[in-house]
Amino acid sequence: MRKKIVAGNWKMNLSLVEAVELYQGITELTVAPQVEVVVFPPSLFIDRLMTQFLHRIKVGTQNAHPVTSGAFTGEISMQQVADMGIDAVLIGHSERRQYFNETNEFLRQKVDAALANNLRSFFCCGEPLKVREVNDHLNFVKNQLHESLFHLSAEDFQKTVIAYEPIWAIGTGLTASTEQAEEMHAAIRSWIVDVYGATIAENYSILYGGSCNPSNASALFACPNVDGGLIGGAALKLSDFEILVAETTWITSK
Ligand code: PGA
Repeated sequence: MRKKIVAGNWKMNLSLVEAVELYQGITELTVAPQVEVVVFPPSLFIDRLMTQFLHRIKVGTQNAHPVTSGAFTGEISMQQVADMGIDAVLIGHSERRQYFNETNEFLRQKVDAALANNLRSFFCCGEPLKVREVNDHLNFVKNQLHESLFHLSAEDFQKTVIAYEPIWAIGTGLTASTEQAEEMHAAIRSWIVDVYGATIAENYSILYGGSCNPSNASALFACPNVDGGLIGGAALKLSDFEILVAETTWITSK
């Protein structure tokens, strides 16, 4: 059975006090054994959260640089992330692609560096509105995956998670319909079949992200090829996140 995952991307939000309070609340949630909860707080807060709460919830950074060390002011390397005992790293979020000009080739380097440091990559893909409007979204996402992820060996690929996040749905309140989400998730799984075979594809978790919230999660998570969510805004409020974790628990029988 595929692992169901609910991941919270806190972005550049929350004070330290708020982050500690939210994280503590998350550590107290009831989570079914077959569900994994991961949070991506602002990097600066991570060590405090992990130390204070004894690593009770898996934590990742929202970004890291592929080069091991050197003159990259303001960056942290994958190796430094791994040194801190952090589990995962978010790679290719559309905000990184858009505001920091991260290309598919650069993201491929990040994926490789993450794996070299035993970090799990949560790899984000997704099309802008203009691409969806001309019905080229499947090609666009397929290309992102081929250029940044599908070069991996089967063993390494299984240490990654894909999050499909249509850019037009992120932080906008617009959500992909269940048909739109399922179309893309089924396509992604079929490309994984092509590259890695049916068994790996069947066991691989593909998350949906983009204005996922307590009112639309149950329909999205019920789609056969959606295995949980990467949550932005709704991950900042414990009561909302709790509902999303519970919804993820309900789909474990899928
Ligand atoms: P959102 O963000 O849920 O606020 O749309 C999702 C994300 O950016 O990962």
